[in-house]
Amino acid sequence: MSEQITILGFAGSLRKGSYNRALLRAAAESLPEGDRLEIFDLDGIPPFNQDLEKQMPEIVKGFKAKIKAADAILIATPEHNFSIPGVLKNAIDWASRPYGDNSFEGKPVAIMSASTGMLGGARAQYHLRQTFVFLDMHPINKPEVIVTFARDKIDEQGKLTDETTRKIIKQLLESLVAWTQRLKQ
Ligand SMILES: Cc1cc2nc3c(=O)[nH]c(=O)nc-3n(C[C@H](O)[C@H](O)[C@H](O)COP(=O)(O)O)c2cc1C
Repeated sequence: MSEQITILGFAGSLRKGSYNRALLRAAAESLPEGDRLEIFDLDGIPPFNQDLEKQMPEIVKGFKAKIKAADAILIATPEHNFSIPGVLKNAIDWASRPYGDNSFEGKPVAIMSASTGMLGGARAQYHLRQTFVFLDMHPINKPEVIVTFARDKIDEQGKLTDETTRKIIKQLLESLVAWTQRLKQ
């Protein structure tokens, strides 16, 4: 039998009604049986300050510990001004430090993005992939979960109502679990 996989998910939006947070909740409902998705809230992570990286804020220490303990990472992010939202990049920068203690090192990772626009955050996904190179992560290439016109697919209660999107999220998770098991061998 395959080993159980623990995934840590976080969203690049702090907004209560965030469509990207909604994607993470939908992902938790689509997990292969026996695997686990824990969602970490980036709210409260302070702006990165290199002076503090040897005595990191408690919330950052907790974030780093959860990343290290996870077998795989799942990021759901909006696109801000054609790139990665500052909130997400800031959290990634903290977790990559201090030099020599990059919590993401060697981790498999999958991305989803939702936007109210017609490109669904695709450009942010490609910028995120660029950071994965330095972080030495192992991203899933396909399927690409790019949720366009999110307002039409996620209702006011934050529930993903679009079945096609649900299916592709399920495929992404199956792919992430299989990839993680392969990397563990
Ligand atoms: C500062 C800012 C910049 C944005 N830039 C983009 C953008 O470049 N591309 C895009 O598709 N949507 C952009 N949007 C719209 C977001 O797609 C939309 O706000 C989305 O709902 C944010 O995700 P969330 O619901 O998870 O918070 C921007 C929104 C904000 C607040």
